[in-house]
Formats: sequence, C-alpha cells, structure tokens
Amino acid sequence: MACVIIVGTQWGDEGKGKIVDLLTERADAVVRYQGGNNAGHTVMFGKQKFVLHLLPSGILRKTTSVLGNGVVIDLAELIKEIDELAKMDIAVENRLHISDRAQLVMPWHKTFDRLSEEQKGGNKIGTTGRGIGPAYEDKVRRSGMRVGDLQEPELFRTRLQEIIEEKNKLLELYSKADEPSFSVEEIFSEFAIYFKILKPYISDTTLMVNQMIEEGKNILFEGAQGTFLDVDHGTYPFVTSSNTLAGGACAGTGIGPTRINKVVGIVKAYTTRVGNGPFPTELLNNEGDLLQSEGHEFGATTGRPRRCGWFDALLVRQAVRLNGITSIAVMKLDVLDKFNTLKIAVSYQLANGEFTENLPRSLENVTPVFEEMPGWECTSAGITEYEKLPREMLAYLERISELVGAKISIISTGPKREDTVVLNPNQFWV
Ligand code: GDP
Ligand code: IMO
Ligand code: MG
Repeated sequence: MACVIIVGTQWGDEGKGKIVDLLTERADAVVRYQGGNNAGHTVMFGKQKFVLHLLPSGILRKTTSVLGNGVVIDLAELIKEIDELAKMDIAVENRLHISDRAQLVMPWHKTFDRLSEEQKGGNKIGTTGRGIGPAYEDKVRRSGMRVGDLQEPELFRTRLQEIIEEKNKLLELYSKADEPSFSVEEIFSEFAIYFKILKPYISDTTLMVNQMIEEGKNILFEGAQGTFLDVDHGTYPFVTSSNTLAGGACAGTGIGPTRINKVVGIVKAYTTRVGNGPFPTELLNNEGDLLQSEGHEFGATTGRPRRCGWFDALLVRQAVRLNGITSIAVMKLDVLDKFNTLKIAVSYQLANGEFTENLPRSLENVTPVFEEMPGWECTSAGITEYEKLPREMLAYLERISELVGAKISIISTGPKREDTVVLNPNQFWV
C-alpha cells in the first residue's frame, strides 16, 4: 500500500492532471485536499480531452474519488461537472465522496472576489473569480458554511440569515448601486435543490480514507495550484488562499503525516504563470511567444494566456524542500523542440548586488543568472522510450535533476496518457 501526493512545483498548470490520471491506473482512490474550481486539470487520452475543475482527475478511471474537507466547493459548478461527465458516459454514483466538513463557496464569495479585485485596480491579484479567496477567508473567520450544514435545514436557514445580514451590509460598503442584495429565501431554496442531488455522496470522508489506508490500499492525493501559489510559501500576496503544499494534504483530508509515503513533484520543463505577481525568468520576447504558442499556454479555467519563461531552478529546488519531494515528473519537454539554446536560472542577483542560490522572500527585484544548454532541435513529441530521447534532452534533464536535488521518475513528451516515459513504474506503489 502507499499514500502518494501529487504536487505542483511552480505556479500551477504543470500537468498535474495528466500525472494523476496516469498514476490512478493503480490507485484505489484519488483525493483532492485543497482549492476549488479555480483549478483546471487536463486529461487527454484517445481522442478525448477532459478539463476537471473540482472532481479529482481519478474520476475518469472509474476510481473512488474524494473531495476532502480542505476543498471549497461551489455546488452548482460541481453538479455541472458531474452532468458533463454523465454526457460522456462517466457516472460518479457509488464512487464520489464529498466531505461533510468541506466549505461551501456561496454566491457572495464570487461577488466579493470580483468587487475586491475591482477595488484593487492595478494591484489586483488576477484571481480566477471563482470566489476562492472569500470562501477561505470566511472559513478562518468562522463565518463559513459547510457541506454537512445542509443536512440540518433549519440550522442551515438560521446560519444563512445571520451571515446574509452581514454580507448585505458589506455589499453596501462597496457602494455599488447595481449589486443586488442576497436573499435568504432564494439561496435557501437553491441550496435545497443542490442538497437533494448531492445528498448520497456526502459523508465523513476521514473515516473512509483512513479505513482504506488501514486496509493497505493505494491512495493518490491530488494537489491543485502549485507551490508558489501557497498562501504561506508562495509569492504573497499574489497567491491563492490555501496551503497548496504537500503538507496541506494531511489537514485537508484528515490523515496523519505518518501515512504519507511519497511526494511526486510535477515540474514543467520551463515556467508559466497565470495572473499577476513577480516572475523572474519571464520572457517578454519572441522566445516567450514561442513557448506560449508551442505549449498552448492558455489557462484551463479562465482561458487567459499564461505568462511564459525559462526554467527556474531556484523555485523548483525550494519546492523540493517545502514539499519533501521524493521524485519529479518533468512535463512538456516536447514544447522545447524548436529551441536551439535553453536557459536555466541557477541563481539570482539581488537589488544590493549580492548573489543567492536560495529563493529570497520577495522575487520583485531580482535578476536571474542563467546557465545555457544546447537544445535538441528535433521532434521529441510522443516519444515513449527513454533510449529514444535526444541526447541533449537527457543532458537538460540531468542538469535539472542535479540543480533541484530530486531524481526524475517520469518524463512527459506530449499531452496524452501515452506520451510518457515512466522510469521504473513500480516505484510509486509499494
Ligand atoms: P494542471 O493544472 O497542472 O493539471 O495542468 P493544466 O491541465 O492546467 O495544464 C497543462 C497543459 O499541458 C494541459 O493542456 C495538458 O494537456 C498539457 N500537457 C501535459 N503534459 C504535456 C506534455 O508533456 N506535452 C505537451 N505538449 N502538453 C502537455
Ligand atoms: P491548477 O490546479 C494556475 C492563480 C490565479 C491567480 C491566483 C489567485 O490548474 O494548477 P484564486 O482564484 O485562486 O484566488 O487566484 O492563483 N491560480 C492558478 N494558476 N493554475 C491554477 O490551478 C490556479 N488556481 C489559481 O490565476 O493568480
Ligand atoms: Mg491547470
């Protein structure tokens, strides 16, 4: 048995969905532990492409799928996602489990996400607008509503009344005459419908997950976002509102740290970021445009173009430390096929002129120092055998592994399940 955590090592969109789907082949359950439908995890096989926002990517393999207590859930969006899968003949009955402790994303969370961004003007975070920040704010200030509250309708209504009274006052503070106030009755009826649909899936998922661990099952924990969007360790304030690190998997699902066996870091072979915030190796030139077009770098949730840049070894080395990563999966190498030279940031020069190889607290005023490596300038897309990978790619991978301090377990050469080189497939599951 094993408990394996999949975690993003950069600013999200590293290709977590693809690897979760791949490793789910031998998993007994896949569990999401934080974030909400700000995530967009793409899985491609055959001629089909799925983008999952809330449901764990394991759902496509007909595996037990769990939304843990650390996830914030927009019930309307979850139902939409379940319906979309049903249209493709993927049923979730009897294998989807939703934690009764998970927080609900309520209608006001989306409104306040938007209003707060508007208020910030030029300094806005560039959120996905899914209400994620306000939902986590309410969780920690103890004004949140949880999935399990729906099981007690009268209590739910009373809480709704209290909370809506406060939210409507808050709305007035924003002085937006055109914002409709929130209605207890409307929201109560809306959520009663959602509850009717989702009732069979709701339970105390800590019991089930811990029992599966006791029984020696293989459990995959699917992280959303990435290490540098973590609310504590990321590029604050340009972060999301949850602990995206592997450590979040324990609190976000109710299992103990002693249960975790492996942490697989998902690493894009270059760097991307959606939304605002510092990005030292960002390329605002033709090379950045080439990464963007070759990598189809558009957000899977919002469709926004992703900012692109060279591989940053300081970021991923720090991610290896923060997450206790045991091996890395390096993704999207095929995107680099056309480059004749590749650059890797190996240190930063700080504003005071000093150099550092350790990631400083602020990335605002640093200048990356690059090391150059030759590109392979041939088609690597779809290669599935290690021996067939170009020599220059192997050198690039070896250098990355050395710089970040983690061994490579997976090499990805295309978006599909098949476009993958797995080194020693038995290493993940004990
Ligand atoms: P996630 O949020 O970490 O799951 O990643 P996203 O799904 O948001 O973004 C990754 C994108 O890269 C998706 O469109 C994937 O289909 C695609 N992708 C994953 N691995 C590879 C790869 O090795 N090569 C190429 N070309 N695309 C990949
Ligand atoms: P996956 O799981 C990339 C970014 C947003 C914004 C910041 C805060 O697909 O890797 P939020 O809506 O969470 O309050 O936005 O975080 N962001 C992501 N960027 N991938 C994601 O998820 C992201 N989820 C949030 O763009 O900069
Ligand atoms: Mg994504």
